Amino acid sequence: MTKFFAIISAKGGVGKTTTTINLAGALLAFGREVIAIDADLTAPNMSIMLGVPNLPRSLHDVLDGKLPLSSCLYYHHSGLRIIPGNIAYESAKDINLSNFKYAIQELQGKAEIVLIDGAPGVSPEAQTIIEAVDFVIPITTPDLAAMSDCRKTIKMARELNKAVFGIIVNRVRGEAHEVDVPNIEAFLETPVIGVIPEETAVRQASQLKSPVIFTHPDEKISHAYKQVAAKLFGEEYHAHAPKKEVPSFAHEVISGWMGKK
Ligand SMILES: Nc1ncnc2c1ncn2[C@@H]1O[C@H](COP(=O)(O)OP(=O)(O)O)[C@@H](O)[C@H]1O
Ligand SMILES: [Mg+2]
Repeated sequence: MTKFFAIISAKGGVGKTTTTINLAGALLAFGREVIAIDADLTAPNMSIMLGVPNLPRSLHDVLDGKLPLSSCLYYHHSGLRIIPGNIAYESAKDINLSNFKYAIQELQGKAEIVLIDGAPGVSPEAQTIIEAVDFVIPITTPDLAAMSDCRKTIKMARELNKAVFGIIVNRVRGEAHEVDVPNIEAFLETPVIGVIPEETAVRQASQLKSPVIFTHPDEKISHAYKQVAAKLFGEEYHAHAPKKEVPSFAHEVISGWMGKK
């Protein structure tokens, strides 16, 4: 049975897309079957982060009723499977959300885990995504502004009777002014399942058009993603335990796209 997770927060720029592609990469490194969907329909940028902004088919075509979802599934050289959004300005207008929940069910049985990169705001898009998944993973940075927006996402999920899997705290630098995990958990009334450090490797990975988990597999941040990813299927990951290696092809600099299989 496929489990659907939404990586979501009312605040933009907290790391939803970065987290989605890296958790997907970590799951792949564990040998799990995973698909990442870019459902930030007004500002999709997963395909840009992966260096392929102009893929011909997208989730927008599916919501417009033009294509089945499976025809928008693309394979990255690393092995990642993604369903992109259309980055064109025109695609951000008049989005038909009514079909979303039904459309993603087409992935039932095609992966163990589907990760959905969600829309910001307490918007109809965010609501549609939350309604369509099994679990919500709210993401915040360790500051009050992001936490306040994240709290809205959590309240929205609870109003919709949706299970909140746990919070990811992103871009943690360990500085004194940051809100610490116990206070984040108290403020959001939800456990934290992962703490992801702020690392420049993320920007380097962006330049290399690949998730940091593949470009910098031994950095602290990559182990942090793996720790969260293991929890998605009920296991613990220990960085120094004997581990399955990321396939060597995944380390290659990604310069292109294999296209649809
Ligand atoms: N852990 C991190 N360390 C360093 N930079 C990060 C980290 N997470 C995200 N970023 C950077 O922050 C910016 C916003 O991240 P993004 O994933 O696009 O956020 P969102 O999808 O929530 O808008 C990007 O430039 C990204 O490279
Ligand atoms: Mg994003």
